[in-house]
Amino acid sequence: MSTILELPKAAPFLIEQDYSAYSTEQHSVWAELVRRRMPQLERHAAQEYLDGFETLCLPYDRLPNLAAVSAKLHRRTGWNATPVSGFMPAPAFFEMLAARRFPTTTWLRSRNSLEYTPEPDIFHDVFGHVPMHAHRIFADFLEHYGRVCASISDSATLEKLGRLFWYTVEFGVIRQRGEIKAYGSGLISSHGECMNVIEGHCAIHEFSLDEVLLTPVKVDELHKVLFAVSNFDEIYEAMHEAERHALCGRLQEE
Ligand SMILES: [Fe+2]
Repeated sequence: MSTILELPKAAPFLIEQDYSAYSTEQHSVWAELVRRRMPQLERHAAQEYLDGFETLCLPYDRLPNLAAVSAKLHRRTGWNATPVSGFMPAPAFFEMLAARRFPTTTWLRSRNSLEYTPEPDIFHDVFGHVPMHAHRIFADFLEHYGRVCASISDSATLEKLGRLFWYTVEFGVIRQRGEIKAYGSGLISSHGECMNVIEGHCAIHEFSLDEVLLTPVKVDELHKVLFAVSNFDEIYEAMHEAERHALCGRLQEE
């Protein structure tokens, strides 16, 4: 089936990654970003993130070729890192997740903004997100998230489910051998966000779906609370519970 038929809402945003167009400077910015993040992540990232990075052979010294990454990823979990032109409307985004395609930007931040970009770039998307897609339970959770959200039109319900995405996929932490480890891409790809957790400026609550659904997302400040799972089955189960809540209208505004 062609991608346009398979992904009618996302089709206008799908592009090719012109790998040969990246400059030497851009490859060297990627290498610098990886060099800066790895020492902290070797100590503070979830083992599953580090395993995914290694399994996919993500490059340290040059930008990733998405077709090569996707070939490895697809063999493992059926996921793809699919190049898109940038910000996507929610229905197109959910449609892609439901099809096990992660919308992946191809542009890279410049050397002047190594720590922060207002919108996700390829470093956030590939370095931050993609290694977790090699984990089978996480991969199934994310597809299910996309399928459920793609079937919902109520905005209050989608906003609540957005909180579940935020506190897992973007800013998730897990307790491993008594320590808090990061697996959310916003923590993985940002030194400042990760330090906020490591240095204890952020409270860590045990993951509870009800509390997550009641905690609004604030994008313009460091987190004051995040939610630790003890294994990835918890987010898989939480998504099924969230689906049940959504189906019976519990997530709509009273
Ligand atoms: Fe992200």
